[in-house]
Amino acid sequence: MTTKYWNVLKQRFLGDSKGRTADGSTYNSAVCGLRSAVCERSSEVALRPPSSVLRPLSSVLRPPTSFLCPPSSVLRSLSSVLVIAALLGATQTLSGCQDSGPIDVATADRVPVDLDKSNEERLLRYYLGGYVSAEGGDPVEAGLMMVDGGLALNPQQLDPAFRTALTDTDGNGTIGWEEFVEFVEATYADARLFPHTLAELKSTVQWSDDDSVWFTLDVDGVVTVARRRIYVPLEAIRTALAGYSDAGERIVYAPGTVIVAEHLDDERVLETTVKRRRSDGFWDFAIYDASGRRALRTSTGPRELRAPVQCVGCHLGRRAFDPEKSFPAEAPDGPYGPRALYVSDDLRNAEVTAYFDEHVKRSDGLLGLYATLYTARLVADRDAGSLSEEDRTLLEELGL
Ligand code: HEC
Repeated sequence: MTTKYWNVLKQRFLGDSKGRTADGSTYNSAVCGLRSAVCERSSEVALRPPSSVLRPLSSVLRPPTSFLCPPSSVLRSLSSVLVIAALLGATQTLSGCQDSGPIDVATADRVPVDLDKSNEERLLRYYLGGYVSAEGGDPVEAGLMMVDGGLALNPQQLDPAFRTALTDTDGNGTIGWEEFVEFVEATYADARLFPHTLAELKSTVQWSDDDSVWFTLDVDGVVTVARRRIYVPLEAIRTALAGYSDAGERIVYAPGTVIVAEHLDDERVLETTVKRRRSDGFWDFAIYDASGRRALRTSTGPRELRAPVQCVGCHLGRRAFDPEKSFPAEAPDGPYGPRALYVSDDLRNAEVTAYFDEHVKRSDGLLGLYATLYTARLVADRDAGSLSEEDRTLLEELGL
């Protein structure tokens, strides 16, 4: 095979830098075309293609990020498949690569999904679980998500109102990350039934600035340069503490628990972020802007964050952040100023902090130290002789 022949092949099947070929097909089909063409050609000559062909092949098989990508499994296996095919001169046996063409999401009942992310199955379970029911649910059981034979979803199991937002925009027969994000951002907040205003959301919980209902905590942390005031329902913390040993020494919050985090400039609320516990063990995310309207993105620095797509990285991940990581010691400053939990010294209780190891364990997906600080307050009250009998029992049950 000559270099000239290679150039013809390249033009015919790989197209321009965006992966578009002359006939408008995309990288996926182009690669399939290229593969069979090389196979056919190599069977004619029954020889390995010259290195002048194989070298450029391996570089085009690693597309730039803006390229339309076939599933990563295809990419990984493709270069070795090509070499083997060429060596063996096997044409027919390797011709299983067929261009499935664009998907008609309105009618398809199995659409391959390739988000090109680590932990992709968990991520997909998180997102799609939110479309199963108001409480969230198992998307595989519900028939919305398939795991056998590669990750896929069945659009027919989506509410028709949401299904229309799912499109195979690049026509490569797979829902990729950008297409999936477009779908999620267009539908998620409605699918999760987040009210359009913060006032409506607050009316669904027993909202009050009174600290007899909410445990409140001021933080300078990693999420925003603004001061954060986080509100966790006291009752939810107490119930989670009471169930600590039954849950296998885990802090687990009741489904429906709402946690509110205001981003403040002095006492002015610039925006509010919210997490709400689903019954499938995941949490939903929402943002409300300064006027209390539901928003897609945060507005305070250092960078805008879009809900839920840019919330899940930290919230489903394992990375530890300051000031929680250093607690009970003071945390070093971050690049945008202090990192601090504004609590009185008697709440900096090393024994209680180590007992829960809450930020690292994050048994229920919460990143803050709410159970730790609440329990430290009970211990401080006990030391001061002002603890109620009920709270004393709670501490004893914890063995503290
Ligand atoms: C860079 C990592 C990071 C990102 C991104 C992030 N968070 Fe968080 N979040 C945290 C940390 C750390 C805490 C613990 C409190 C603190 O330090 O601010 C937290 C706490 C929270 C809390 C209080 C409940 C809890 O889990 O402790 C809410 C509500 C919240 N985040 C909402 C959001 C929303 C909504 C988004 C997306 C718009 C988001 N977060 C994005 C790191 C992150």
